[in-house]
Amino acid sequence: MADSQYNFPFRHLLGIEQLSCQDITGILDQAKAFEEVCENPDVKIIPALQKKIVVNLFFENSTRTRNSFEIAEKRLSANVINFDAASSSLSKGETLIDTATNLEAMRPDMIVMRHNAPGAHILMARHVNASIVNAGDGAHEHPTQALLDAYTMREKFGRLDGLKVAIVGDIRNSRVVRSNLWLLTKMGASITLVGPPTLMPLDMKETWPNAVFSYDFDEVIPKMDVLMMLRCQFERGTGMYISSQGEYAKHYQLNMARMEKAKKDAAVLHPGPINRGVEITSEVADGSNSLILRQVTNGVPVRMAVLYLLATGSPGAKD
Ligand code: NCD
Repeated sequence: MADSQYNFPFRHLLGIEQLSCQDITGILDQAKAFEEVCENPDVKIIPALQKKIVVNLFFENSTRTRNSFEIAEKRLSANVINFDAASSSLSKGETLIDTATNLEAMRPDMIVMRHNAPGAHILMARHVNASIVNAGDGAHEHPTQALLDAYTMREKFGRLDGLKVAIVGDIRNSRVVRSNLWLLTKMGASITLVGPPTLMPLDMKETWPNAVFSYDFDEVIPKMDVLMMLRCQFERGTGMYISSQGEYAKHYQLNMARMEKAKKDAAVLHPGPINRGVEITSEVADGSNSLILRQVTNGVPVRMAVLYLLATGSPGAKD
């Protein structure tokens, strides 16, 4: 396996906001080396993390991300513990800080954490010596999703610089959009955020002066290399901001009629899980422009790269 010779300068992966272009490229290049491991039937599993204990601490539901991390950890031969939040002492009223200090008392090496409170992983990082990997904190960040999205775009187009990317839908409630905005703007892509005004918070325009905002999906589609569709986050209250799912779909659903207007080689991305028939139709999600399953495949080497680089980072790594 080729090693990218890059040293990750942080002890944790808390978000994309802290990373430089060099860090992002370092992770993506390391992931490319790990893709060869995943695809080679004679290798598949390497001993890189065999002395490490990794705890997967998921307080929010997850299918793809949790399994993807677990497969990545096992491909690196880590010892994996899955913490089931529903059967934990949290359900008996234990605080997150008490959970953290008790976990720390057992000396894990890494904690992969998903929580519905923005910043919960930062609190955890203050109370443990283990490296924390943010696997999604509320509507804030989801760094490994943005990294695997970038990996998938770079794989298809050979670059991120200059790519025209539309991120479409539930801008208000999505953590995927925030991590992608950090990553793609750092890497020189141009971003257009598309969605109904009610799902486009005003502070987004202040925070992201370089992004273009549009309420008109049909007008944006023909110019884009990438159409990244977001899931409507109904569990975070999206239903309150749209008049109906039918009305939403009329203006913002990616369907075959809209794909007719897209560039021939436009890439369609979606982080999953898909609300089929709401933000995207099955014909498009399963169609020839869709890279949705490729994103899932790429998630494994990308997460391997993150875990490996954290485990082998320099001793003086910053928090
Ligand atoms: C995303 C998540 O949970 O933030 N899914 C994922 O991790 N693959 C996106 C979403 O739920 O909309």
